[in-house]
Amino acid sequence: MRRKLEKFVDPLPNLQPLKPDKKTGDGVHYEITMKQFKRKLHRDLPATTLWGYNGQFPGPMIEANRDEPVHVAWLNQLPNKHLLPVDVSIHGLEQLPIVRTVVHLHGIETKADSDGHPEAWYTNNFQETGPVFSRETFTYPNHQRGSLLWYHDHAMGITRLNVYAGLAGMYILRDEHEKSLNLPAGDYEIPLMITDRSLNADGSLFYPSQPDDAAKNLPNPSILPAYNGDTIIVNGKAWPFLEVEPRKYRFRILNASNTRSYQLQLDSNINFQQIGSDGGLLRHPVEIEKIGFQPAERIDVIIDFSKAAGQSILLKNDLGPDADPNDDTGDIMQFRVTKSLKNKDRSHLPQTLSVIPSLKQNDISGIRYLKLVGSADEFDRPLLLLNNKHWHDPITENPQLGTTEIWAFTNTTNFSHPIHIHLVQFQVLEHQPFDLEQYNQDGKIIFTGPPEAPAANHRGWKDTIEVPAATITRVIAKFAPYSGEFVWHCHILEHEDYDMMRPYMVADDDKNNTKF
Ligand code: C2O
Ligand code: CU
Ligand code: CU
Repeated sequence: MRRKLEKFVDPLPNLQPLKPDKKTGDGVHYEITMKQFKRKLHRDLPATTLWGYNGQFPGPMIEANRDEPVHVAWLNQLPNKHLLPVDVSIHGLEQLPIVRTVVHLHGIETKADSDGHPEAWYTNNFQETGPVFSRETFTYPNHQRGSLLWYHDHAMGITRLNVYAGLAGMYILRDEHEKSLNLPAGDYEIPLMITDRSLNADGSLFYPSQPDDAAKNLPNPSILPAYNGDTIIVNGKAWPFLEVEPRKYRFRILNASNTRSYQLQLDSNINFQQIGSDGGLLRHPVEIEKIGFQPAERIDVIIDFSKAAGQSILLKNDLGPDADPNDDTGDIMQFRVTKSLKNKDRSHLPQTLSVIPSLKQNDISGIRYLKLVGSADEFDRPLLLLNNKHWHDPITENPQLGTTEIWAFTNTTNFSHPIHIHLVQFQVLEHQPFDLEQYNQDGKIIFTGPPEAPAANHRGWKDTIEVPAATITRVIAKFAPYSGEFVWHCHILEHEDYDMMRPYMVADDDKNNTKF
């Protein structure tokens, strides 16, 4: 079906920040429109029809400053026919318009009515709206530390297809502290959005309409339990290359893939210096050879090419020793250290990057045990659930505004899930392994080892964390500064859509707890 594509023939597209439409006393304003458009994803492929914010893939990059609010009118001018096969057998979706969207800015602390609730969807020109829809313009206060955030579609039951069609973009929040550090900046700070897709020989996107081993009675289209594309796309080009100078660069990397996780590695003796995670800078740089990277996670790294003049260095996805030789997803992109040094590299990598107070110092109001479970639906398809509850079941997680809680994610399935909580940045306390076979027999959790501290690069602020199979992963979060209804979910988009997502309520006793 797909054509074998030559790697490293297209230059990496450089993502430029979008110019605001206007600035006013209450912040910066943008209007961004979702459209269908065509774009070449590889030199040797015809242009691909995509959906994108402002007709771009990735969407335009927003650069924001701490404490300066950003307001975005996210307009939908998409056609009324979807680019990809839509399964309407889940969640009673046959009742809903097929093409519906809502935007979530992942990692932001904002009010519930600007968070992109999955049922706050709307169609082209707001003709039809979902039950939770309340506004056309979203506000992001940016009252949090500098970090790489990203925006993407979040419409109920169809997020995997909308994002796969191209609805995702980057958002960089800057702060003064970070500016004072003199990290590599300007031309030497490069955002990388890593995704995977499958492409037909005519350039069109391929997304299966049913699982490979589909039983005959399955609905068609039928949702897949997971989907990995066979082509790695960075900033909108398949396996691109980037020419660099022999000096330090800072890369702001996002895994925007539906399902695929990566193990990033350089094929040289250069290590990464990881300086940040989802919620901004770490306390100290972490020198690291391989970085595990789940969907929706962000990593901020310094790569020092100063001793590599003349070399080509691959950014690899280390698939492990038994990788299939026909599998091209072990390569991500190529750096060519072919440019000459323009100016002496005066950027700096300080040993202390930021101060992160431990949330363990707070009064902890409780622990929630939240189980990640596998079951099956009426067609015998895998149905993944959180605490055995479906999306539409009543809210069960309802922390009080301003309180600190521990959420203990207990993964009883046999693969990892990247769990994400809206509204907050959390800290990872520990991962503790338990006996999954025993659990499957009698439902008892018997630990097989002591709690293990998170990896050094997970000791900063996170909003998405890998919960490995057969572990309890404990995170701690302070539920503030807004009350209202948010969501938490697995960020494998095929899981999120069916049905690994739950609403949760930050309750404020001083208000009556209506939806917002
Ligand atoms: Cu990027 Cu609800 O998530
Ligand atoms: Cu989010
Ligand atoms: Cu999952």
